Amino acid sequence: MREGPATAIHRADYQAPAYWIATVELCFDLDPAKTRVLNRMQLRRNPDVPAQALRLDGEELNLARVLVNGQGTSFRMDTTERGQQLVLENLPEGDEPFTLEIFTTCCPAKNTKLMGLFVSQDTFFTQCEAEGFRRITYFLDRPDVMALYTVTLRADRDKYPVLLSNGNLVEEGTLDDGRHFAKWVDPFKKPAYLFALVAGKLVAREQRIRSRAGNDHLLQIFVRRGDLDKTEHAMLSLMHSIAWDEARFGLTLDLERFMIVATSDFNMGAMENKGLNIFNTKYVLASQATATDSDFSGVESVVGHEYFHNWTGDRVTCRDWFQLSLKEGLTVFRDQEFSMDLCAEASARAVKRIEDVRVLRTVQFPEDAGPMAHPVRPDAYIEISNFYTVTIYEKGAEVVRMMQTLVGRDGFAKGMTLYFERHDGQAVTCDDFAQAIADANPQSHLAALLPQFKRWYAQAGTPRVHAAGHYDAENRSYTLTLSQSCPPTPDQPVKEPFVIPVALGLVAANGAALPLQYTVDSGETNASEALFTMTQAGHTLVFHGLDAEPVPSLLRGFSAPVILDIEYSDAQLLTLLAHDSDPFNRWEAAQRLALRHALNAVSAEGDVPAQVLDGAFVEAMRAILREPALDAAFKELVLTLPSEGYIAEQLAVVDPQRIHAVREAMRLQLAVALQPDWAAAWEASEHNGSYSPDPLSAGRRALAGLALVNLNLAAAPTGDTVWPGRTYQRFKDADNMTDRANALSALVGAGHELAKPALERFHALFTDEALVIDKWFQMQASAPDRGGDILPLVKQLMKHPDFSIQNPNRARSLVFAYCNGNPAGFHRADGAGYAFWVEQVLAMDAINPQVAARLARALDRWKKLAAPYQALAREAISRVAASTSLSNDVREVITRALA
Ligand code: ARG
Ligand code: ZN
Repeated sequence: MREGPATAIHRADYQAPAYWIATVELCFDLDPAKTRVLNRMQLRRNPDVPAQALRLDGEELNLARVLVNGQGTSFRMDTTERGQQLVLENLPEGDEPFTLEIFTTCCPAKNTKLMGLFVSQDTFFTQCEAEGFRRITYFLDRPDVMALYTVTLRADRDKYPVLLSNGNLVEEGTLDDGRHFAKWVDPFKKPAYLFALVAGKLVAREQRIRSRAGNDHLLQIFVRRGDLDKTEHAMLSLMHSIAWDEARFGLTLDLERFMIVATSDFNMGAMENKGLNIFNTKYVLASQATATDSDFSGVESVVGHEYFHNWTGDRVTCRDWFQLSLKEGLTVFRDQEFSMDLCAEASARAVKRIEDVRVLRTVQFPEDAGPMAHPVRPDAYIEISNFYTVTIYEKGAEVVRMMQTLVGRDGFAKGMTLYFERHDGQAVTCDDFAQAIADANPQSHLAALLPQFKRWYAQAGTPRVHAAGHYDAENRSYTLTLSQSCPPTPDQPVKEPFVIPVALGLVAANGAALPLQYTVDSGETNASEALFTMTQAGHTLVFHGLDAEPVPSLLRGFSAPVILDIEYSDAQLLTLLAHDSDPFNRWEAAQRLALRHALNAVSAEGDVPAQVLDGAFVEAMRAILREPALDAAFKELVLTLPSEGYIAEQLAVVDPQRIHAVREAMRLQLAVALQPDWAAAWEASEHNGSYSPDPLSAGRRALAGLALVNLNLAAAPTGDTVWPGRTYQRFKDADNMTDRANALSALVGAGHELAKPALERFHALFTDEALVIDKWFQMQASAPDRGGDILPLVKQLMKHPDFSIQNPNRARSLVFAYCNGNPAGFHRADGAGYAFWVEQVLAMDAINPQVAARLARALDRWKKLAAPYQALAREAISRVAASTSLSNDVREVITRALA
């Protein structure tokens, strides 16, 4: 083992590789205990860099032999702080290509990190992004080294009938001793992180398609035998993805065969290996009986995401891992747009946007304000796996979205075309992408402001936009001042102004949309556009021709990833909630009102009052619930209160128990006050059509689910016994998982006595469905805490025969659901939640550092905690830090938390 923690790698230190690898021939003799790998490469020196030794990365490999041009050669092993390197000094002189053969073995059965080659349920899988290929063979394991791969797989024919790798199958046949082989050739050069193989007993759903361009393709989704009936939705999603990328960006499928394979042991969601995507089962398998509507939409998004990577990631990849958002931010943007474009109704598009923003604000904003804050294009990291973050992915997508906003939808598509014209087959940077979008739109704001716009890549932290308005009756004008600032983040004390597109409108008190005629910054510019682009620390907009004070509707559609500070009156927010033509700001008005009540009650002295909400808010919620013109999905979003985590982020000092008590009081108040309306909403959602996961029907079920939650909450205080009974019945009779799970979680969430038999029945019904058993754990671990009852329950569930800390999905469903998803259950005054966290981080780290490092982030925001939590949290983090056997992954997270 290496000594001490690793030091950081810096973006500024990038150097081109000393050697290029033209071709790679890999030959695998697959065996769980000892897999033999022969790696035969054609290399040559990179003439553009000074002559130097060849240093190949390797990790947990047993080296048997090294040959150069067929001859034995001298080599040595360097043990660096990041692992092993195979060093070859005496290579042939000059620029001539040479052959390097490396023969190693590894042990996939013992690979609990799930990086490199591993075994899951008797099937071999690989995960090579970011640095897993070095666990398979010695290699220049960096994304700017792109090679052509030929892969031969040999394995026992009965145990591993299916043998897959990237590209096209060119040969297969029988060998001695019951073994067989398959040979695959990938026609595209690729970095090592996109290599993949799969070998096992799998079956495939197959679909042949002809593209618009007239090419034929074979689509295959490989799963375990019993899961074939749950692959239809993934296949449909894949077909939609292919059609969408052709229609919107002119990007066609470039392979004859496109494969997706599902595994139940996976660190992340899925992986875009060229032609052979490997997925967490969670994002492939979906059936009416086993998957909820949000599972269906997760499958659609992730299938789209990985497919879209075929161009944004695989055809054009990243020069180095600091550029990760080049492919991830862009590809998240693309999958978001894909899901929106699949919506038949405009209202469903708006709902999708609200859901995406909610994730950004509840997960990414805290990251950007905490110890792990980093720019979309980071400057340094210790362990790259720690930077697969919501900042790289979701904030990165917002940066791409702002570019589209600044150049328009068609301009953006032109920019994409230029990007591929320039960079197809290359490994490039975020700068290259932004440049292409700007160059394709020379007249745009983006082109004019590009260097400043790129601060979005360089500066961490969430900018705040402060807005204040003043109405001048005499001049019939309204002055709006907008100013921006951005708080310090680790290593970045001072920030320069960002380019912030602010989509805006003015709404009259009666709800009418007002015309936009304004001058900017003392009359220099006249404007009537609904998009104003901030470039300076402050701007003044003067709107003319207004007969009364307007209500400003700012940042429509969440046009920039910023926090908008604006002091609305309750009346103004109620106007926006009732009338804004922008659905995002309608929803946002309700969130602001609810947040205001929550924050008032949290900061007030004494016990939490039963009535946290005022009558106006309750009546506004009733009006939304009753409004026939609104979509059910939108109603469900408006009537869902801001989460405890989101409320916490608004506060300088956080008392998680107080926040929980306040939010619970608010929920109860809405449940009781709107009881008849909830009942009506539930009845209205009943319909007899067959199940379909489309947004409109999913929205109906979501609202019905929220109604049931409320009706069960209201049952105890109002003495009602009928609704829990009806809920149990719905749970039993539901013909789909959404309704069933919603009913179950309504009972569990209300702490009703029927929850117990319902949970037992649920478990018995789905014993063989791992993804449903995950839900069973998750629902219990994230239930509202009552008097500290969740931790004992979680500890008991850890002993359940179905629990396994080795399986990431299962660990997430119990340990993460508790530590990350249940603030009141976790932040206990006795510190027992933190003690549990310490144990689990250390136990997990010995098995799977990547997953452990995610769990280690559960206390990221400890510095904001009130007494006694803060001191207890610090002590817990210090106990993890005191361990002498931490992975680089966990060490980096913990060191930053304590900094
Ligand atoms: N590129 C994959 C995706 O976003 C994620 C892979 C991350 N893997 C990892 N080990 N960090 O689709
Ligand atoms: Zn991705």
